[in-house]
Amino acid sequence: TKKYDYLIVGAGPFGSIFAYEAAKFGKRSLIVEKRPHIGGNMYTHTENGITVHDYGAHIFHTDNKEVWNFVNKFADFNNYQNQVIANYQGELYNLPFNMNTFYEMWGVKTPAEAKAKIEEQKKEAGISGQPRNLEEQAISLIGTDIYRKLIKGYTEKQWGRKATELPAFIIKRLPVRFIFDNNYFNHRYQGIPIGGYTQLFDKWLSSDLIDVKTNADFFEHKDDYIKEFPRIVYTGMIDRFFDYRFGELEYRSLKFESETLDTDNYQGNSVINYTDAKTPYTRVMEWRHFDGLADKGKTIITREYPQNWDRSKEAYYPVNNEKNTEIYKKYAKLAREHKDQFIFGGRLGLYQYFDMDQVINATFNTVRQEFKLSNSYVFDKN
Ligand code: FDA
Repeated sequence: TKKYDYLIVGAGPFGSIFAYEAAKFGKRSLIVEKRPHIGGNMYTHTENGITVHDYGAHIFHTDNKEVWNFVNKFADFNNYQNQVIANYQGELYNLPFNMNTFYEMWGVKTPAEAKAKIEEQKKEAGISGQPRNLEEQAISLIGTDIYRKLIKGYTEKQWGRKATELPAFIIKRLPVRFIFDNNYFNHRYQGIPIGGYTQLFDKWLSSDLIDVKTNADFFEHKDDYIKEFPRIVYTGMIDRFFDYRFGELEYRSLKFESETLDTDNYQGNSVINYTDAKTPYTRVMEWRHFDGLADKGKTIITREYPQNWDRSKEAYYPVNNEKNTEIYKKYAKLAREHKDQFIFGGRLGLYQYFDMDQVINATFNTVRQEFKLSNSYVFDKN
């Protein structure tokens, strides 16, 4: 092991791009990944010509031109734009909330009519002053009907708690548009790599200076690794790294159930959200609609079920409430005290909800620091 400059825990985007950049400076890395494959939650595989995102739908969307140019060096991206449909007890609505939704909900045809309707419902609900919870926040932003049919059930399933027990800040920035526009994300650059995301990781990890061990959990040999490696990049859970000494952080988990069906078109859209409380899943993805490249006669759908997290499950989302933020701060302080040996990165290492573009940007910043690069250093310019 003397020959490695870095041990990297996790072959997701943070770990993989770090290794890729380090190799450019002649540095050797060993990556240990507990799953049987590389790619982290961006991992995709292809069957029947259909690219399946194994850990939920991943749509690349960003305003960060450097990150966009970077990822486009490793794959051709299509021009996919996410347009989600909500199904509330058999009624269909366009998301995110926009003039199409308001027309479907109330028959209103102009922005002025839609705004008047929302105002009327806010008034009827009698909410004044600072919203005390998610329910009050939602109603004061969008009115009672949309809250009840499109937010309440979905959000309660997602968080496993009543909307009246959830903090208002979760939906501070509810996207509400008074134009006819179903494009889910506001970002300038959007798309999905044709053939999926795994090809990016194959390229990032192809250097002779990088070795990858899959099915290898860091915690099986933690003490040995710490003794042997002077520099460790860790993208797993930070509370577990420090043996939970300040207590456990909370996470949300997910369960995915996939099915192959003998049809060309099951639901007519890539994502349908089930916004009632009773349907146990939150959304159904139909993968062929993300790129239109599927073979004829087959389709693959995946149902996504939110789950409470415990140590036997995958941690997908940090729960960034006050309590956890206080705990995380203690771990972050400890991490800083050990910064000569350890770099904490990524969604679980920094206990932060990162989108792909954000995690890539965070990796760039870490690489800049580690290799003392100037701010004008451009990642993979031509
Ligand atoms: P990531 O989780 O990808 O990788 C960490 C790796 O470390 C994993 O492979 C894990 O197995 C490994 N690991 C952990 N502990 C270990 C241990 N002890 N030993 C060895 N290995 C260990 N983003 C976006 O931009 N657009 C989108 O549409 C979506 N959609 C989306 C849907 C769902 C359901 C989720 C959960 C997430 C998204 N994302 C997203 C977010 C995206 O997945 C995220 O930004 C990146 O995967 C984060 O990359 P990281 O490298 O931080 O972690």
